[in-house]
Amino acid sequence: MTQRLQRLLDNNRAWARHEAERDPAYFSKLLDQQAPEYLWIGCSDSRVPANQITGLAPGEVFVHRNVGNLVVHTDLNCLAVIDFAVDLLQVRHVIVVGHHGCSGVRMALRRSAGGLAEHWLRHLQDVQGRHASLVESVTDADEKVNLLAELNVLEQASNVCESTIVREAWRRHADLTVSGWIYSLRDGLLIDVGFNVDGHTDLDSARAASLALIRSRYGR
Ligand code: CO
Repeated sequence: MTQRLQRLLDNNRAWARHEAERDPAYFSKLLDQQAPEYLWIGCSDSRVPANQITGLAPGEVFVHRNVGNLVVHTDLNCLAVIDFAVDLLQVRHVIVVGHHGCSGVRMALRRSAGGLAEHWLRHLQDVQGRHASLVESVTDADEKVNLLAELNVLEQASNVCESTIVREAWRRHADLTVSGWIYSLRDGLLIDVGFNVDGHTDLDSARAASLALIRSRYGR
């Protein structure tokens, strides 16, 4: 075992000991069940760990992450996670979380991914195309990445709402809200992009309200 990996196992032992000392029933309580109220769909970026930045303990948030926090209608991996979270765990909130300075978004804008990633990032280019004039109106490269990351949150959160899983849950009057947030690497703060949709919300007006909020944040 290399030193680098051994460090992780040592950390793990120290953490498990610390938790057990703090609360002797800590692990046995988690063993019984997981009942998270949140499904987090975020970017794989190592700087955006769901539990840590929201102060949630193990057992409190169900997590799916991929490059660019994309919800693709044919992605069985993501759909299985949503299905598991909504139908079995009955989470109350699905939160799509993008982040500023996202490398996936940057590569999509530069058309520079190459290989398999090119196909995946194509979905981000679709978002760019859908909001072409707005994205083009921003000239600063970093600002453009951040804007597209926010628009992507709006589009992927909409995809969650339009999935058969969520539509079916709302038909059953499930208490389920889909929201969109953006994380700033600069100060570690999560920002609401103004997209909060439940079974009673009109998706088109929610999208319009969120888009207006994002535009105003960029002075557009
Ligand atoms: Co990212």
